[in-house]
Amino acid sequence: MQQPTQGPDAPSSSPRYQQPRRGWGNPAPLAPPPPSLDHFPPLGKENPEGKQRSPHSVPSYQRADQPHGQQPHRPKAGPLASNNNPIAPRRFDRRPPRLPVAHYEQFFVEQAANLEKVAKSLLEEISPPDEETVAKNELLHLLQGICRKLVPTAVLIPFGSLVTGFSTASSDIDCVFVAGPLNDPATPEVSDDLPALLERSLQEEDFDAQLLTRTRVPIIKMKQRAAPGIGEIQCDIGFKNFLAIHNTQLLLCYSKCDVRVKQIVLFVKWWAKNRHINSPYRGTLSSYGYVLMILHYLINIVQPPVLPNLQLQPIPQGTADSEIHYKEGGSEYNIWFAKDITNIGPSPNTSSAGELLRGFFDYYSYKFAWGQSVISIRTQGGLLTKQDKDWCMAKSRPANTSDGAETWEVKDRYLFALEDPFETVHNVGRTCNGPGVRRIRDELRRAMDLIKFRGDGGQRLERFLCEEAPPERPFVKKEDREPKDPNASMSPGAENENAAEEAANSGAAAGGKAAEDLVLDTLDAVKELSLNS
Ligand code: GTP
Ligand code: MG
Repeated sequence: MQQPTQGPDAPSSSPRYQQPRRGWGNPAPLAPPPPSLDHFPPLGKENPEGKQRSPHSVPSYQRADQPHGQQPHRPKAGPLASNNNPIAPRRFDRRPPRLPVAHYEQFFVEQAANLEKVAKSLLEEISPPDEETVAKNELLHLLQGICRKLVPTAVLIPFGSLVTGFSTASSDIDCVFVAGPLNDPATPEVSDDLPALLERSLQEEDFDAQLLTRTRVPIIKMKQRAAPGIGEIQCDIGFKNFLAIHNTQLLLCYSKCDVRVKQIVLFVKWWAKNRHINSPYRGTLSSYGYVLMILHYLINIVQPPVLPNLQLQPIPQGTADSEIHYKEGGSEYNIWFAKDITNIGPSPNTSSAGELLRGFFDYYSYKFAWGQSVISIRTQGGLLTKQDKDWCMAKSRPANTSDGAETWEVKDRYLFALEDPFETVHNVGRTCNGPGVRRIRDELRRAMDLIKFRGDGGQRLERFLCEEAPPERPFVKKEDREPKDPNASMSPGAENENAAEEAANSGAAAGGKAAEDLVLDTLDAVKELSLNS
């Protein structure tokens, strides 16, 4: 497929990642990995109880097996060093000598092994039991029956984690109502009064259902009460959200490419849920956003890549136009991606899920440029700049309720820029406000500190990594909030525009009109809002 050389679709010009990664079909020369900013705690500090030190914690110059005169690294000769003993450490210098690279690599291996152990034990716990998956499918079937009483050809098409297999025990059902087969031109449009009719039908069937119209598209949110052995099941029925069906298929294909994708996604989702940074309506990121972050890491950052870029695979001759172009709401989208993954072959990367998870936390803790970069998994290289996309400042735009009864202003934020793979004007990270981005970054670094902790065989990691964070602050009305300092700035290194934007929005984590407006425009946010109302 032809790649544009200019504009937002052009390959990234980021100096850090100048060599774009490609799918297996088009191997590109490998770039050197981005410089690591990893640091390690000083030796001995993490062993206050005086437990046995690991052999790696013995400074190299003290090791008996080190051949004389071949120390890979020597501490600086201090004032006490003499000509007789030039490598003697300074007596009063408490800083440990820097370790040779081989030691750090050994630490990576240990850290990854600990993480792998934690992830394995968690995965069994968080995957929903089979009965729950069966119950969700049965509910979907039941709901479709109710829909068909109104429109005999109606279909409820599921999307989201139920289809991708990324669902955890608490995941909801996401589905979209279609009046007939999707690609059939004879399928009628959904009439404007149908959402309200369906809401009433569901209530008559004794479901707790509520129609939300202050949204881009109408959504019915409903719940099925808990049954023995199965918790309450929540379900969202959307009405015009067909792009979600396509991006769900893309996620599913990536998941099928490599078994490690699902393991990593489930682990990161669980970690994010427990650390309370998976609440779009409170200013953090949706599950879909975390999946895109993981895909970017696996396609573009880790070397060799774990995943090919399915959207950059060549389009085979004779592919139907409906597989390449899709029109919705007056816009046309390029929805092409390679669905036949049998030709792609296994990844040359043989790292364990633990190693990849370590790399994921390391990349987003220390290497990803949050202030400047846009994650764009459809693009070669996976990164664009905020300037490329003109995503430097928050933008306000008027929005209508889906029934056209009301107009209000919505703010699109770009503090964390995460381009949707098909709807490229849509920032999946728009739900993140300043405090939300800061919390996500703090949590990533907290995770990284735990991963790097040595000397206890990963016990601390196991205990604290996914430990439930303290409860979030309650929802506070704007008028009840303290006025904020408009000159407060974001974390060091963030670009000025974002700092100002964040400062202006700094009260939004605790609620407020700005957050409410944003929330009400988003599918995910509305979901949680109504659950809390
Ligand atoms: P859980 O419900 O937490 O298990 O995760 P999920 O995988 O179902 O993801 P989520 O509920 O966040 O999103 C469901 C689907 O909505 C995604 O798979 C996308 O297909 C679609 N979607 C499209 N745009 C957005 C967006 O901006 N935010 C969210 N949340 N979803 C979107
Ligand atoms: Mg979902």
